[in-house]
Amino acid sequence: MSPKQTEDRRYLVPIDTASTQQLFTDCLVIGAGVAGLRAAIEAAANCDVTLVCKGSLSDSNTWQAQGGIASVLHSDDSFKLHIDDTLRTGCGLCDDTAVGLVVRSGPELILQLIEWGAEFDKVDGRLDITLEGGHSRARIAHAHGDATGRGIAEALIRKVAETPNINVIEHFYTIDLITDDDNECGGAIGYRSQTGFEIIWAANTIMATGGGGRLYRETTNPDEATADGLAMAYRAGAVLRDMEFVQFHPTTLYIAGASRALITETLRGEGAVLLDCDHKRFMQAYDEAAELAPRDIVSRSILDRMLKTNSTHVYLDIRHFDKEHFKTRFPLISELCESFDIDVSTDLIPVRPSAHYMIGGVKTDMEGRTNITGLYACGEAASTGLHGANRLGSNSLLEGLVFGRITGANASTEQNSRIRQPAYRRMKCEIPVSDRSRLDASDVCNSLRALMWRNVGITRKGQALTEAREIIEFWQRYVMDKVFDTPFGWECQNMLTVSYLMAQSAEQRCESRGVHYRVDFPEIDDAGFARHFELQRPTT
Ligand code: SIN
Repeated sequence: MSPKQTEDRRYLVPIDTASTQQLFTDCLVIGAGVAGLRAAIEAAANCDVTLVCKGSLSDSNTWQAQGGIASVLHSDDSFKLHIDDTLRTGCGLCDDTAVGLVVRSGPELILQLIEWGAEFDKVDGRLDITLEGGHSRARIAHAHGDATGRGIAEALIRKVAETPNINVIEHFYTIDLITDDDNECGGAIGYRSQTGFEIIWAANTIMATGGGGRLYRETTNPDEATADGLAMAYRAGAVLRDMEFVQFHPTTLYIAGASRALITETLRGEGAVLLDCDHKRFMQAYDEAAELAPRDIVSRSILDRMLKTNSTHVYLDIRHFDKEHFKTRFPLISELCESFDIDVSTDLIPVRPSAHYMIGGVKTDMEGRTNITGLYACGEAASTGLHGANRLGSNSLLEGLVFGRITGANASTEQNSRIRQPAYRRMKCEIPVSDRSRLDASDVCNSLRALMWRNVGITRKGQALTEAREIIEFWQRYVMDKVFDTPFGWECQNMLTVSYLMAQSAEQRCESRGVHYRVDFPEIDDAGFARHFELQRPTT
């Protein structure tokens, strides 16, 4: 059961159409990562599109993605192998249809990206593909070395810019989806610092708002990743699924005081090894695939090694790499290491795991539809069933492309009866002002991140999860009754809402499966838990 504080708030701000600026569009896309951009491009073939994003177009998780995009690109690989690897990694919870659809659509969509100007790296005229943990074949395409996400995003952003009927609004903080009593979505209310509150009425809305790595103290994600989309979807009555499954990336640069930065898994795919604080290699003792075991295993092994050696981190060793090749193949990491005076030919790179990817999200069908009419979801914000209980590395950019295209098409074609009917309605919704207790929202957010890291992290146990849920519930009592007028306050409310749901689901899953590891239930329990947990805000 969710606490009353989470259930009670339908909207975070009062809404009055009589005094709020309003825009109208056929298709509203919220979010500008790979899924949102691809959805906007597809929808624009049929209707006018408004694409809004919280920061600038480059402030996305996609932009920061390093390793690459997984697809069957060479003759020694096959759809069957990619499907099998995805299913095995997903530990029994993948949706077979989603996996087949995403894997089979990959090569065509990557070719299309290349036509649109994405410059994937090549060797001898062929795409240069590499290996990551859990993949039985090299199938990770990359662009500009380790700047793959940026390469893909730039190509899509150029395409968006060339498409006259896509109206891009940056620095638009979407606060809430607007729904009516018939469970239909009519658009969203948001806020721009220059113009204040705005309602965007839309015939169809696509949520591509990304994940929530920032719910954790340690994360590879940008500041924007505060799970706003999941919280607003929950408030609107959307079904959320698999909220207990969070992927932790094994190797984030760890320098006390510096912000965390992703160190791509493809480094390990190309021969980097992990050493403990005594400079001893340890991964072979945990898994026969050693450094190339799936991410959950590597993350847990690192954590265990850190505990056993009483250390805050382990090391990545690439001293044996050719230094010049490293610079061209991994320019971002090369620059990052240099900025901290780490000479990779003589020094080890200090790393530790951190929160990386939310596997759970808004439940969709294979058309990208949610349970709310007129609301679609894609990318990290969605739960399509592709990843099951664990995501195979580099499958997410691919999923964003595939389901971005699908949702963009479905939210815009003439078969969609809502097309070109942005639904204006007179609306006045008031929220009583609470005069209870003053609040330091930044203190709540910092404490929440520390709590999530400690109690809902890489390894979990029942008592700690219950404690997390109860503490979050207590914080919600004096945060959820407030009405904020800045994004920071809304983010804090969203973070509490989603963290609560994650702790609740993790507490209920009394087994270990994929990324969800319970020290008190260390085995997989197919009899009890080979199923998804779904959450929906009660409306009565
Ligand atoms: C990485 O480069 O290691 C991250 C890629 C991903 O998360 O798929």
